[in-house]
Amino acid sequence: MNKPIYFDNAATTRCDPRVVEAMLPYFTEKFGNPGSRNHSFGWVAEDAVETARRQVAALLGADRKEVIFTSGATESNNLAIKGAASMYAKAPAGSSGRGHIITAMHEHKAVLDPCKRLQKEGFEVTYLEPPADGVITAEQVAGALRDDTILVTIMWANNEIGTINDVPGIGALCHERGVIFHTDATQWAGKMPVDVNKDNIDLLSMSGHKIYGPKGVGALYVRRRRPRVRLTAIQEGGGQERGMRSGTLNVPGIVGLGAAAALCAEEMEAERERLGAMRRRLETTIIEQLDEVQVNGHPDKRLPHLTNISFGFVEGESLMMACKDIAMSSGSACTSASLEPSYVLKSLGVGDELAHSSLRLSLGRFNTEEEVDFAAGQIVESVRKLRDLSPLYDMHKEGIDITKIEWAAH
Ligand SMILES: Cc1ncc(COP(=O)(O)O)c(C=O)c1O
Repeated sequence: MNKPIYFDNAATTRCDPRVVEAMLPYFTEKFGNPGSRNHSFGWVAEDAVETARRQVAALLGADRKEVIFTSGATESNNLAIKGAASMYAKAPAGSSGRGHIITAMHEHKAVLDPCKRLQKEGFEVTYLEPPADGVITAEQVAGALRDDTILVTIMWANNEIGTINDVPGIGALCHERGVIFHTDATQWAGKMPVDVNKDNIDLLSMSGHKIYGPKGVGALYVRRRRPRVRLTAIQEGGGQERGMRSGTLNVPGIVGLGAAAALCAEEMEAERERLGAMRRRLETTIIEQLDEVQVNGHPDKRLPHLTNISFGFVEGESLMMACKDIAMSSGSACTSASLEPSYVLKSLGVGDELAHSSLRLSLGRFNTEEEVDFAAGQIVESVRKLRDLSPLYDMHKEGIDITKIEWAAH
């Protein structure tokens, strides 16, 4: 077993060596620009891009013409949200009343920040407050829909707690009401099945580096029929990707994304089983040996490979320091630079104390059962050690309700 052990697969994954192998020729001998239509270097590159497009489309149950390559899920989200808002705006730029958008408070920043930008530009945005289990339902979205709603953007699976929103139901509702539906499927696609038609999705974002592919490449699915979704480009230039995303294509990256998508499709069923069993083993071992532990989010409606656990009377940061052999995350990687408690956990009503004491462990393709047992053992031991040093935990053990203590102010 090699240490440190990597349990932060929701932040990024190791690129699969089979993916790297598929990419390598496109840096050297097959280096053409797919936009070069008049020689074989260009044709070879174009062929490779179209193969990758088919591989990504197959993973999503889409037509290959519906796949637009981008630099990752952040760009896909920006293009989907800003591009749809601008295309379907009900009033010209610069005026108010341009239209209404629905999203949720525990979305990734790559959705929340484009929404905030649109608010400044005359759109109104409703941020749905998730219930304590973190799951957004079609009923909740229905309650927020208005006559001027133009876009609903709800992620498929949450990156911090792994909870699964009712995407097919929300999509069906949006289609009934003639509203465009976007889902950020960065943590879902490649791990769980997608059928954009059955799941009623108009726009879907995904990313290479979350599915054992390279960083800096992603895709946006854009529905072409029933309804045909149109987007205003946010980046202009050579008109690549049907004018929706100009810029010379990142051929090696795209080849890698395609290969990664194909491997995920092939191995998905077995991986879901294997990782689900490993996550349950991890949680059970921890819960059986420690008191004051809480798994955050819905008990069943969540990703098989991800768990978010709060350890009462222990600081998440101290616990991570104590478990140096395990790479994991307190909150999401994007916000862990700040010591603010996670906004995702707070939106679920988890108090500051418990939010500060939370760890996210996300398993992946290269993890083994041996690693799970090692991690569970090290976490249990470290929590016990830290609690031995905690006067608050002692008081709690003595039956004192520490929330009722009036601390002297100095
Ligand atoms: C749910 C979600 N959306 C978007 C992103 C951003 O993806 P990328 O790194 O490909 O821009 C991430 C990655 O952290 C994510 O987890």
